[in-house]
Amino acid sequence: MSSTKREQATLVIFGATGNLSKIKLMPALYLLDKAGQLHPETKILATGRRDWNKAKCIAEVQNWVESSAGERFDADVFKRFALRLDYFKVDYSEPDIWSSLKNYLESEISSARLSSNIAFYMAIRPAEFGLVIEGLGECDLLQETENWRRVVIEKPFGYDLSSARVLQASISRYLTEHQIYRIDHYLGKGTVQNVNVFRFANTMLEPLWNRNYIDHVQITHSETAGVGTRAAYYDSSGAMRDMIQSHLLQLLTLVAMEPPATMDAEDLRDEKVKVLKSIRPITKEDFQTRAYRAQYTAGVIGNEEVIGYLEEQDVPANSTTETFAALKLYIDNWRWRGVPFYLRTGKRMAQRQSMISICFRHPPQQLFRDVSRNGMKPNWLVLGIQPSNCVRMEVTVKEPGLEMQIRQISLNASLLDEGDARVDAYEDLLLDVLRGDRSLFLRNDEVEYAWRVVDPVIDAWSKEDTPVDKYSAGSWGPPESRAIFDKTATQWRQTMDPVS
Ligand code: BG6
Repeated sequence: MSSTKREQATLVIFGATGNLSKIKLMPALYLLDKAGQLHPETKILATGRRDWNKAKCIAEVQNWVESSAGERFDADVFKRFALRLDYFKVDYSEPDIWSSLKNYLESEISSARLSSNIAFYMAIRPAEFGLVIEGLGECDLLQETENWRRVVIEKPFGYDLSSARVLQASISRYLTEHQIYRIDHYLGKGTVQNVNVFRFANTMLEPLWNRNYIDHVQITHSETAGVGTRAAYYDSSGAMRDMIQSHLLQLLTLVAMEPPATMDAEDLRDEKVKVLKSIRPITKEDFQTRAYRAQYTAGVIGNEEVIGYLEEQDVPANSTTETFAALKLYIDNWRWRGVPFYLRTGKRMAQRQSMISICFRHPPQQLFRDVSRNGMKPNWLVLGIQPSNCVRMEVTVKEPGLEMQIRQISLNASLLDEGDARVDAYEDLLLDVLRGDRSLFLRNDEVEYAWRVVDPVIDAWSKEDTPVDKYSAGSWGPPESRAIFDKTATQWRQTMDPVS
């Protein structure tokens, strides 16, 4: 759990001129500064290939922050924030780039302009992680003496289990596990952290949180955005690697894990790993009934006509990469054996929506079957992650009036009151890096076990020569995805609204 101590530090961002820095990192750092969460002497060294200097970097960052912060932009705060910024041009092909960086950092540290507690943030292409860490390691910039050195690595950590292991082997020559912060930005989302609070700070639901009462669980992330300009990355990744291996499996671990001994990073991650280890492996024989994929074609979202995946910039015309993926998982332990967990994600879907939906079993005796106009509905508990941060509980009640009729109502609670601060995941995660709190970051074994879950499916799909199913942009994905359901009555829960 986060401490509140503010410590002087230097944040070196590799890839600081790129998209992640523009849309997430710099706006988050600015907002942290505005909220008084950064030590007054904490500095940010932006590095990139572009021929920028400090003034150009400040001007660019100001534009990014202004457009992202909107009404929250304050020119005076930005002036203070700009004093933290500096720029260092790096070209990874120059052999002496690492010694130049080292000399620069050491001279700034010895003249007390920079702290020697350094976090290096890899906002770069995954193919470059190893190279940059080796460069830093070989010139001893990753060695901790009295001060700390940390490295933040963005997902994806590897491309599959074996490449993740190769990457881990190469970086562990220079770093010990406590120095590595593997980001899954979903863990920084307030509503995701709330899953733990909701489960373990209340006694009401925990007795029901098991195979005796829960019929199945659905974890959904849908987005209206397409692949945009990211096809170079996305086409070799696909929805299974991009969303399910990381974000959705993380959500699953939080829903399914046992209460940890404490909320410390290692206790929490031990419990998450136990869940991943207990997932029943998907085999060649059953992958057809446990996994489903599809790709979007042209369609309409809102009022806008959008092109299909194969027409997108940089997507090969014969690509079979999935933009929609669904997976059925079983957790073979005492709590969950036999309860299917359905994970689903898609780009260019009807709505942007992330939620965890828990469907409870029907009561053992159906006493009110004859007085229900629309059939007996199960209880649902839905945790809205985005865009709505809410909890919704669906229960059956008697309709008002003389007749005995029943219907379902929803108890809704927003998790955000008016005036509550809206914090971006990156604000939380960057602060944790600076404070040295690793509970919201992935441990190496977690990453490996997550790859073990999805690798058999990815492998089987790569060998299939049948055409990939299609869905129109703006739809909820192909109805054929229901083939993975155990029961014919099960429906995808598309939105926060009840299943009709
Ligand atoms: C990223 C994926 O990790 O998460 C993207 O690479 C996806 O493809 C994004 O769009 C979704 O994140 P969020 O926070 O917008 O739900």
